[in-house]
Amino acid sequence: MTDEDRNEMVVTPWEVKGKVDYDRLIREFGTQPLTEELLKRIAKHTDGLQLQLARQVFFSHRDLDTVLDLYEKGTRFVLYTGRGPSGPVHLGHLVPWIFTRQLQDKFKTRLYFQMTDDEKFLVDDENQLADMTRFGYDNALDLIALGFKPEDTFIIYDTKDIDLLYDIALEVAKRITYSTARATFGFQDSTNLGWIFWPAVQAVPCFIHKKLTGENVPALIPAAIDQDPYWRVTRDIAQKLGYYKPAQIHGRLLPGLGGSGKMSASEPETSIFTTDTPEAVKRKIWNAFTGGKPTLAEQKKSGGDPDVCTIFQYFFYLFEEDDKKMTERARQCKSGEVMCGDCKKDLAERVNRFLADHQKKREKARDTVEKFHIKR
Ligand code: TYM
Repeated sequence: MTDEDRNEMVVTPWEVKGKVDYDRLIREFGTQPLTEELLKRIAKHTDGLQLQLARQVFFSHRDLDTVLDLYEKGTRFVLYTGRGPSGPVHLGHLVPWIFTRQLQDKFKTRLYFQMTDDEKFLVDDENQLADMTRFGYDNALDLIALGFKPEDTFIIYDTKDIDLLYDIALEVAKRITYSTARATFGFQDSTNLGWIFWPAVQAVPCFIHKKLTGENVPALIPAAIDQDPYWRVTRDIAQKLGYYKPAQIHGRLLPGLGGSGKMSASEPETSIFTTDTPEAVKRKIWNAFTGGKPTLAEQKKSGGDPDVCTIFQYFFYLFEEDDKKMTERARQCKSGEVMCGDCKKDLAERVNRFLADHQKKREKARDTVEKFHIKR
């Protein structure tokens, strides 16, 4: 295998590999870039732009303009996002959830949140259903710790709530051919039958609001771009079923500490989990891939490269809100004034401060988690 093959980009809902080229994804997935004009329109409603939009961490969309048109004429929307609970939550998962929380706050909307224990059971031979279900309840604590409120946040646990989802899943599944599903998801002869049906289940929360309230409004889905294939098939059939096409706002993928692909639970040494100890966080960050030079002397002389550095990305996505400080950090790196060890130490401190607080809120969430379970 050559370096080029190893670095080849793969982005599917189940696998992300190589260096992710977001412009190429916009072209290949057929999504729209988030333009300055659209950002200005959002800012009008959100009292200035959120950091994740200003920094283009969220960079692409489908039909966000239509959702805003409707909103401005008085039709509300609901938010929908989710989690495939195959293990503990990592910092990458928090990126779209923090963003969703801010959108919910500004637009005062309902959020439907799907825990897909069924998906995670079906897509991996090793995964046991009871474990996935258990992780679903555990991962809900992370969501709640981010400040969501039970009045307007409805968590759907797929296997528990399947009676609520099944009729809509059938309507969806009936209208998607195997050939479309195979072309969209890359199914093979060896793919199990459950997995082939499963995308119909992820479509359901786009439409569930009407069943629960009688109100037909569009869903807006904030998620990383790896989930987009699901929405392509869902959008194709939405209007046939009498619903709005679900709209999306797509985020970039926080890379793993190893440098490429995305932070992924299957690579625990390059992922920071919300349940990690301070020592584990320090160790993982200490071993991270950076834009540094092989020796300190070389780095002092010719500087590092923040553009390829994972540590820099973590500040950019989550841990440095001040743009001026970001620019200064990049300058100091390029000029050889700060060494990788300095940035790693800073980042480990920030992450550990964040996690200490998050872990407390996560424990408190045990008292309220039941209140978030979707009401019928
Ligand atoms: P899952 O569990 O793979 O991921 C949960 C959410 O986190 C996003 N994500 C990331 N974002 C930034 N950086 C990363 N490294 C990173 N890794 C994952 C994902 O895009 C997702 O938004 N099938 C879904 C569960 C699901 C869902 C949904 C997700 C059901 N309905 C609606 C989004 C929207 C899954 O397995 O997500």
